Amino acid sequence: MKETKVVDGVYWVGAVDWNIRHFHGYTYTTPYGTSYNAYLIKDEKIALVDTVDASFTGEMMERIRAVCDPQKIDFVVANHAEPDHSGSLAAVLSVAKNAKLVCNERCKQGLEQYYSGDWDYQIVKTGDSIKLGAKTLTFLEAPMLHWPDSMFTYIPEDELLLPNDGFGQHLATTERFVEDYDEALVMREAAKYYANILMPMSALVTKKIQEVQKLKLSIKMIAPSHGLIWREPDKILGAYLRWASGEAEPAVLVAYDTMWTATEKMARSIVEGIASEGVQSRLIRMAVSDSSDAIRDCLLMKGIVVGSSTINRGMLPSLAPFIEDLKGLKPKNKIGAAFGSYGWSGGGAESVEKALGEAGVKIVAETLTVKYMPTDEDLSRCFEFGREIASMVKS
Ligand code: FEO
Repeated sequence: MKETKVVDGVYWVGAVDWNIRHFHGYTYTTPYGTSYNAYLIKDEKIALVDTVDASFTGEMMERIRAVCDPQKIDFVVANHAEPDHSGSLAAVLSVAKNAKLVCNERCKQGLEQYYSGDWDYQIVKTGDSIKLGAKTLTFLEAPMLHWPDSMFTYIPEDELLLPNDGFGQHLATTERFVEDYDEALVMREAAKYYANILMPMSALVTKKIQEVQKLKLSIKMIAPSHGLIWREPDKILGAYLRWASGEAEPAVLVAYDTMWTATEKMARSIVEGIASEGVQSRLIRMAVSDSSDAIRDCLLMKGIVVGSSTINRGMLPSLAPFIEDLKGLKPKNKIGAAFGSYGWSGGGAESVEKALGEAGVKIVAETLTVKYMPTDEDLSRCFEFGREIASMVKS
């Protein structure tokens, strides 16, 4: 296997998971697969930063062997205890018998819970560093980005940041650098990653990036633990700052589900009303759509309009994964409204409105309901409803 150089003395020794289609259980779809990125720093001393999912241990070990004898590794840094990065620790440490396992205290606690290895830990905290020779590893804790143990490793001599999950994207490719790939796709997957994993921690994201800026750490390259490496880090740093601030496109996501097409007819008139204001929208029926993609749209679009038919005085259960995610992820600075149809008791659209409020969406229009099947007059009301939301999204 040929070595993959990131910069002189730093090698990518991770693994590509071409076939994974769901991440974090079944909460996040990964249609493009993913990669688990581990980095080997070869100096007077040798360090491995992060490992890979256990099922890819063989691939990682082969890549390490292309650069050095794994027995000679002096330090294994665990930036994060989650198994997609720590799954191969036991295998590496069983070969690199003299290596120290470098991590913060919280990560150690996590690793002890996950594994029963009798490992030689070296506990680090923000500002600590390890000299490898010409290169240094410096550590910056990043609690709750996205786990309590999350940590970044920085190599000042290369101005290289290894932020583990931060700035990642779920993409499987033979390329290693963003600029050598389809940049629009990388940015779209980075947005999906941010929306589904980091959105509730937006305040911490802003704070951490400001902290890095205050420390005047010069960053030439960001090499995350999933997906491609950023050679032009300002692209992703700028995007993270925008996403964290709640800045979004003047566009509207219209998500719905329908029983006998009444709510669908309403949704179609609503998007026509939105379009009449020159505003873009995306219409998605949640029963046949991907919730983690819809969550990305919630990050990127300012308006969120959700509709449901009524069943058992509530919304259709097919909306639940999306609604529950939204309540947990709490997108910032969103405006929205609810709509839906009913037969007799009502309650579907009202339960959607309540859930949107719980997700922090500012309700800007009265909930719109229709009995049984919308008349032409009802559809005109839906068109106006869309137009009204679109004009608020633009302002
Ligand atoms: Fe990629 Fe939090 O693990």
